Amino acid sequence: MGDIFDTHSHYNDSAFDSDREELLGSLFAGGLCAAVNQGTDVPSSEWGIEYSKKYKGMYAAVGLHPECLSENSFEDLKVIKKLAGFPKVVAIGEIGLDYYYDIPRELQKDIFIRQLELADELSLPVNIHDRDAHGDTLEILRKYKPKGILHCFSGSTEMALEVVKLGMYIGFGGVITFKNARKTVEAARAVPLENIVLETDCPYLSPVPNRGKRNDSSNIIYTAQTIAEIKGLSTEEILKATKSNAERVYNVSI
Ligand code: NI
Repeated sequence: MGDIFDTHSHYNDSAFDSDREELLGSLFAGGLCAAVNQGTDVPSSEWGIEYSKKYKGMYAAVGLHPECLSENSFEDLKVIKKLAGFPKVVAIGEIGLDYYYDIPRELQKDIFIRQLELADELSLPVNIHDRDAHGDTLEILRKYKPKGILHCFSGSTEMALEVVKLGMYIGFGGVITFKNARKTVEAARAVPLENIVLETDCPYLSPVPNRGKRNDSSNIIYTAQTIAEIKGLSTEEILKATKSNAERVYNVSI
């Protein structure tokens, strides 16, 4: 134990308001060695930095999520740039494209690309959200070649392998344990273990057997079990390998 590295979490979410300190205390005292809180806007990015001071294992990613864009986003980018310089900020995230919601696509692409350029300028990895936008995401990744993680992977095996070829990591979470996740299982089978990291996206996307309940980093064990079955390895081996992958991509040493 002690090998759970949650590369993508949202502990600032109001779902944790009633018991956040108790929960984080018990997670970090248990199997969780590190959690990266993803920023979706300026306040959640600031939150991650504040909490990274409170807990040794807490790290922050700062960024603007495609669902959180507005006419203020260009101003917000300046704040994100400043926040990115704080200690324990390990990535620009959560950034990317979301075509499920009706958010102007040109604005999404513009803000996404500016954040990729910022990450490059600051030599930081990125954490990327891609929902129903595989074509444009891949096109942008090919062009800008960022370092980092494509989170909550939902694309094809072919796309996963191309992302890996670009030198990126694939984040798998609770979805891989769902009954209808055949495509994701096939992608995980094809992606080399050296390119896989684990995540929750908590409070969302709890794995089976806790599907539908509030998610937290302890549930990563179920995702690791599923990947262990796919890869023919033990759960411990998966946790160990993905922890060391996460340390490599986020440039931290736990
Ligand atoms: Ni997320």
